[in-house]
Amino acid sequence: MRLAYSDEGTGRPVVLLHGFPLSRAMWCEQISGFGSGYRVIAPDLRGQGDSPTPDGVYTMDELAGDVVEMLDSLKIVEPVVLGGLSMGGYVAFSIMAHYSSRVRGLILMDTRASADTPEVARDREASAQAVLDANSAHPVVAKMLPRLFGKATFDEHPERVEPLRGLMEQSPPRGVAGALRGMAVRPDRRPMLAEISIPTLVLVGEEDVITPPDEVKAMAGAIPNSRLVVIPKAGHLAPYENPGAANSAILEFLQSLHAR
Ligand code: MLT
Repeated sequence: MRLAYSDEGTGRPVVLLHGFPLSRAMWCEQISGFGSGYRVIAPDLRGQGDSPTPDGVYTMDELAGDVVEMLDSLKIVEPVVLGGLSMGGYVAFSIMAHYSSRVRGLILMDTRASADTPEVARDREASAQAVLDANSAHPVVAKMLPRLFGKATFDEHPERVEPLRGLMEQSPPRGVAGALRGMAVRPDRRPMLAEISIPTLVLVGEEDVITPPDEVKAMAGAIPNSRLVVIPKAGHLAPYENPGAANSAILEFLQSLHAR
């Protein structure tokens, strides 16, 4: 699967995997904010943004394989710093499970290691069906949007909400359904957390209600070489909602990695 991607800057490669149902556009402030010294590669995962939208269930392993294929096509053989937000984090765990030699540092943002409960998985199937029936991503967007951003963003930066709403509404229904069904069958990655030995930065928005700070803190606590940073005035999309705080945490992490 040939993914659409952006590839900006020169230097050590940093790969950023977006959340659901979004696209690489959510990394605008990271792509412009990392400055020189880093090559930021941000794909649109299968079924989202400008990438192809095949039929079927998009398992996290399949999405991981797409990302590794992109790295191969770019002839990037050195291990990368891999960042993933929410669903992007689930994909990052799959990359760690199957291709760990390709990763030298991990950034987990507003994500979780556990699998869906049966109730959440059933709810995802109902949402997938609703999106396909409506031939529009709208049913999922309407449900998710109020929970995606923190109160501080709705109150103080409403201009940050509309562009992402538009992006989500444009998501192809088949891609939305494929991702929902793939997330519903993803494995529990908690057993592998203790084996992640590379440096890991864990970020969470202090107002995240989808992957709440307490749950993310517990995940970080199970990863031996990890550091947790709680991003103020941000919900589930912390790097997008408060790019100043998120970028300084990420840049500090990247500098510490490259000083080794
Ligand atoms: C995301 O932001 O990628 C989603 O909230 C992930 C999920 O639904 O589990």
